[in-house]
Amino acid sequence: MKKLLMAANWKMYKTVEEGVATARELVSLLGTLPQDREVLVCPPFTMMHSVCPILAGNAGCHSGAQNFYPAAQGAFTGEVAPEQLLDLGCTYALAGHSERRHVLGEMDELIGRKVAFGLEAGLKMILCIGETSVERRLGQIEEVLVRQLESGLAGVLSTATAENLAVAYEPVWAIGTGDVAGPDEILAAHALVRSKLESLLPSEGAQIRILYGGSVKPDNAAAIIRLDNVDGVLVGGASLKADSFSQIVLA
Ligand code: G3H
Repeated sequence: MKKLLMAANWKMYKTVEEGVATARELVSLLGTLPQDREVLVCPPFTMMHSVCPILAGNAGCHSGAQNFYPAAQGAFTGEVAPEQLLDLGCTYALAGHSERRHVLGEMDELIGRKVAFGLEAGLKMILCIGETSVERRLGQIEEVLVRQLESGLAGVLSTATAENLAVAYEPVWAIGTGDVAGPDEILAAHALVRSKLESLLPSEGAQIRILYGGSVKPDNAAAIIRLDNVDGVLVGGASLKADSFSQIVLA
């Protein structure tokens, strides 16, 4: 059975004390998870040492990194390696989040290297893709999503599986704006991603989870996860409070 992946991205928020308190409250609110879903929390690096064990204590809850550098070790000042994340009990990582693409300037080629290196190192990877508002206005959604998928997955066409890879569709204009994509927009984008996954990865593409992200809240989560080809959500703002994220997880 394909489990829904309900993922939180805490971005650059919270002190260690706040992160620990939120993680503790979250696992207590969630209790035993429904059989059909998994939870992932991606905290800032600064608190992973304290937060990962709290999540690991609850069956079905996992920790993920928001970023890493695709090398085993070395002189990469300010960067973190997959091995160092695995050492903390972190099992997932994001690559290609829109803030890394558009604020930090990450290009398709680096994102593809991260997906390939992360999988090779043993992390489960979530490749994030999505068009900007300008690209949407210019009618370039399909072109952008196909390009980001092809480059993001170029190095994993023979190794990616439904177990170690998920894709998150996050229209950039919907992130942090309260302007959630409409059901027709989500259906169209996810159908496109599904069909591209099936052609790139013929034996696994149908089972690879596709998450939606962008202004997911407790009051819209249930309707979103009911849509075809939506296998979970990636939540920013509404994941920062345990009660609101737990409502989304249990939606
Ligand atoms: O990673 C999460 C996304 O950037 C969505 O953020 O839920 O605050 O719109 P948001």
